[in-house]
Amino acid sequence: MVVGFFDGEALQDVVRDLDVRLNGTISEAVSRGECESTWLSGWETASLGLIKARRVLLLGLGKRKEFGVRELRLAAGQSAQKAVAAHARSVSFWVPNLGLEPATVAEAITDGLMVGEWRFAGYAQQKSEQTSLKEAWILGLPVQGAAGVEQGTIAARAENLVRELGMRPSNKLYPERLAQEAVQAAHEHGFTAEVLNEAQLHELGMEALLGVGSGSIYPPRLVVLRYQGGGTRSLALVGKGITFDSGGISLKPGAGMEEMKFDMLGAAAVLGAMCVIADRDLPINVVGLMALAQNMPSGSAYKPGDVVKAFNGKTIEVTNTDAEGRVVLADAVSYAAHLGVDWIVETSTLTGAAITVFGHEATALVSTDDALADLVVQAAEAVGERVWRLPIYPEYRQLYRSPVADLKNSPGREAGTITGGMIIAEFAGDRPYAHLDIAGTAWTPVTPLNATKNGPTGVMVRTLSRLAELLAR
Ligand code: BES
Ligand code: ZN
Ligand code: MN
Repeated sequence: MVVGFFDGEALQDVVRDLDVRLNGTISEAVSRGECESTWLSGWETASLGLIKARRVLLLGLGKRKEFGVRELRLAAGQSAQKAVAAHARSVSFWVPNLGLEPATVAEAITDGLMVGEWRFAGYAQQKSEQTSLKEAWILGLPVQGAAGVEQGTIAARAENLVRELGMRPSNKLYPERLAQEAVQAAHEHGFTAEVLNEAQLHELGMEALLGVGSGSIYPPRLVVLRYQGGGTRSLALVGKGITFDSGGISLKPGAGMEEMKFDMLGAAAVLGAMCVIADRDLPINVVGLMALAQNMPSGSAYKPGDVVKAFNGKTIEVTNTDAEGRVVLADAVSYAAHLGVDWIVETSTLTGAAITVFGHEATALVSTDDALADLVVQAAEAVGERVWRLPIYPEYRQLYRSPVADLKNSPGREAGTITGGMIIAEFAGDRPYAHLDIAGTAWTPVTPLNATKNGPTGVMVRTLSRLAELLAR
């Protein structure tokens, strides 16, 4: 049983009642100063048969004014981690009244518990220990909160699918395999998936995606997901799906390169969001585009100096083969514009510069449309994900001018996250466009939800699906 409490607040009635049943163990610990209330500090005791729960964890929630939906989800996730560590079969979770809608509270707690208890099975002969948790209880919420349990479950399942895909190495998850996963998810969740192969990409004139994929024995794919929720409005979600980013001929340094299997998490987030949108039967039409390729150096690889023509006819001078995300997205985003959607929202692990700016704490937003950008931020806030908008200034355009093509793909270090988004925006035509750079947030060091060292978070599944809900209105 997990009981949350805020910094500097007296123990609530429920906790005092619990204390009485535990013969004053809690108040004694508090008076001795053993119970810290700082963010996610914990104090644990065995209940010695005095109550039904075998162990009680008092979980510090930090300062009330710094606590919101995001923190609630993390606290629940931390509780699941602790419960798994204690080999618990069941966990119950109680927090003081937060003044939020009961369904919102239940959704955040359910999502946090399910994401927190998830483990990647891995490939070792000796299977890593699986979770012992079989059930979870949310205590002290009015019954109207129950609807949130379903929403939280839907979100967590999609996020854990994204995390599963993010963990798989690129010899086991290359474009064709990731496309198969998309087909399977589409089948399970009730939307359609069409997979375009090299011949079809060639037919469509997608030299950019083909160019990036040309160095790998695993050819590129474009996956087109379609969900018809009805209504007149249509949204395109576009994701970068580089199943491994070696940098290509502009090879990356070796240290930590194994983590570049994560470079498909934009495409995976699009897939996850589609699952949520379909599960929730949102009244909007959504097309999801996953631009899949493996960026490798080889005799057939694209090279610095190459010029490729994207689907919309614009040409790109490749000055650095490691700036491959914007190249594959040039084709996918111009294809979205061609489909005539009302909005294009794209997400990608695009720039190391996004980590320089925000660390692992926020997703960078670059948008050509104020109204869309505001809705993206609103959606993110509602679901407890951090998104922060960067400006587009016309002066930045000169940074990616090319002497031989319409633009070059690698302008250099200055304003790197912004120019990345601006370059892709060149392919969105006149459609309202938003770019979400998740380089820092899709894959993070240890968090309350992720005990194993570095790993995938499933970020943007909730923001994108909430955005679809806002746009459907
Ligand atoms: N996938 C990387 C971005 C990245 C780098 C994410 C490090 C997380 C950690 C992307 O393809 C890339 O290599 N970007 C270059 C762009 C540059 C060459 C303009 C970068 O950020 O250095
Ligand atoms: Zn990349
Ligand atoms: Mn790269």
